Amino acid sequence: MPATAHRLAGFTESVIRGMSRLASRHSAINLAQGFPDFDPPEELLVALERATRGPFHQYAVTWGAPRFREALARKIQRFSGVELDPDRHLVVTCGSTEAMMVAMMTACNPGDRVVVFSPFYENYAADAILSGAQPVFVPLRAPDSGFDRDELAAAFRQHQPRAIIVCNPSNPTGKVFSADELRFILGLAEQFDAFVITDEPYEHIVFEPNSHVHTAALPEAGDRVIVCNSLSKTYSITGWRLGYVQASPGVIEQARKVHDFLTVGAAAPLQEAAVAGLELPLSYYSELRAGYASKRRLFLDLLRETGLPFTEPQGAYYVLLDISPLGFATDHEAAEWLVREIGVAGVPGSSFFREPEHRYVRFHFAKREETLRAAGERLARLRLGR
Ligand SMILES: Cc1ncc(COP(=O)(O)O)c(C=O)c1O
Repeated sequence: MPATAHRLAGFTESVIRGMSRLASRHSAINLAQGFPDFDPPEELLVALERATRGPFHQYAVTWGAPRFREALARKIQRFSGVELDPDRHLVVTCGSTEAMMVAMMTACNPGDRVVVFSPFYENYAADAILSGAQPVFVPLRAPDSGFDRDELAAAFRQHQPRAIIVCNPSNPTGKVFSADELRFILGLAEQFDAFVITDEPYEHIVFEPNSHVHTAALPEAGDRVIVCNSLSKTYSITGWRLGYVQASPGVIEQARKVHDFLTVGAAAPLQEAAVAGLELPLSYYSELRAGYASKRRLFLDLLRETGLPFTEPQGAYYVLLDISPLGFATDHEAAEWLVREIGVAGVPGSSFFREPEHRYVRFHFAKREETLRAAGERLARLRLGR
């Protein structure tokens, strides 16, 4: 066989998705890959049935079906206050995954540096490599996953990055960036003429007293913010693969080209059906937040039974459990043992860290209460050690 491309040597297959496959082989409770085991809102299911009988079976407009983009623009404006022209500020993508790839390929030339906070969502390193960019990592530090402003400024000075990626709320730490932190990042981006690429699929899953700040809505945002977002988590439809890039018209004009040749477009019937989600009343979002706050409380209580330390997220639905007291050589070994012997799948934490950090396994709590209780019962055995 001829040699495959050099760029593939820089990253592995997704560890997260790999753990999902392992979980299913061992019939373990899957708290690895972040997706719910409950249904989307009824309104979406009804709209999906209706869409199957409508004229939505051929390609939609490449950058998004007009009805979907219009509903999306209204929804974004309702929550962030940012005024959008659906024809000039949005490209509809196959999830935030494609949105990130589009953003990176639109912003970066081969060889450009991109600042990424570590720990980070594993796609970012692969996105950087696939777009030819080189990630420069700046740590987020315990206990509150904050960053050192001098360290970030030094990274900008040294590497003159083309962009910085901000995952807000963050996967896997659950960090929610404050307006002040975002302003500081925007200030550096302006000083060094860099893009700020934000990935915000958990914008509606934030726990009190924290609240989500839309970077693009800050007065300092100018036209350098590229928002990547998704309907996956907000409407419990990770399989529908609907997301978007939101940016200034100059960026969107270029991003449309990348998107067109990557995927042509997101599924037309699903765009049509998802309009029903975008039009849900405000009460839907407060109930979503309250529901996740209650899952978070339950899951953290269950984890306390293990006697092991863990992180407490400000947003999103992930927890890093410190498995170092169990004495495994690596987190991969621990995560595989957890699947085989305990029956619960998580993700080895090292896949999120630039640093050689093998202390953690990441679990998520986007599951029904009974699933979380069943997982908690199994995990409680960890109190006795291995
Ligand atoms: C931070 C972050 N970005 C993007 C994604 C991918 O989302 P999507 O389903 O929209 O592609 C995920 C999924 O877990 C995520 O955690």
